[in-house]
Amino acid sequence: MAQIIGGLSTSHVPTIGRAIAGGKQREVPFAPFFEAFGPVHDWLDETKPDVAIVIYNDHGLNFFLDNMPTFAVGAAHEYRNADEGWGPPAPRVFRGAPALSWHIIGSLVADEFDVSTCQELIFDHAGITALDLAWEGHGPKPVAVVPIVVNAVMPPLPTPKRCYAFGQAIGRAIRSFDEDVKVLVIGSGGLSHELGQFGKINQSFDQLCMEKIVADPEALTRYSNDDIVDLAGAQGLELMTWLVMRGAVSGDVEVIKSLYFAPISHTGGAMMLLDNRC
Ligand code: DHB
Ligand code: FE
Repeated sequence: MAQIIGGLSTSHVPTIGRAIAGGKQREVPFAPFFEAFGPVHDWLDETKPDVAIVIYNDHGLNFFLDNMPTFAVGAAHEYRNADEGWGPPAPRVFRGAPALSWHIIGSLVADEFDVSTCQELIFDHAGITALDLAWEGHGPKPVAVVPIVVNAVMPPLPTPKRCYAFGQAIGRAIRSFDEDVKVLVIGSGGLSHELGQFGKINQSFDQLCMEKIVADPEALTRYSNDDIVDLAGAQGLELMTWLVMRGAVSGDVEVIKSLYFAPISHTGGAMMLLDNRC
């Protein structure tokens, strides 16, 4: 059976990709953030996951206002990147895991989460940045990926409670997959920020979220979406990706690494690696 070995969450900022391309990982303001991934690299070398479930919010690259699923699951053989408005990027291809994708989709629908299924999906910076931090650089990744997209852009938005329950359903789906694969669940987003309002970061709320994600994720399900926007800014809603991750990585966890460092751009550099093998 498939096993969830851990959960990794991180904020995503497109300039992280530029820092990697320019070899600026050890420069201001990125150095502490990239250094925090050293223990992640060691842990991944040891645990060697086969698949990464990448939970993120799309930023208008794949879904726009005309077609905005609440939850969508990639079911493609491969996923490609594209121009997100910063100029044509070097083309990249990420290997999919369609059998696991379809199993997750079937299990989620049976569990009353009526997700969109995407046999074509363009992978945006939120998913790609997380993979490029976990396996540093822009080279091919040693895992297959299952992208799972959460609407954090346009109302009506899924509530924190719904997102946590969605993550729990993803966890049940993965654990019932009848193949011996090791699965890492990644959540990419947040924490507090509002694009266009540089410096609008709520460090104390971010710290609280990081504590609660580990020890008491249900506490975060008591916030409304409006509460999150008030406390963490409009893009603070990306916190939902951490809640989905934590729902999947349910039960006891060991914190392998956790760092909050702000700012690195509109947002802080927030990351956390949870071992779920205990
Ligand atoms: C930034 C943050 C994001 O979440 C994003 O999607 C793009 C940019 C930023 O902090 O600059
Ligand atoms: Fe974002």
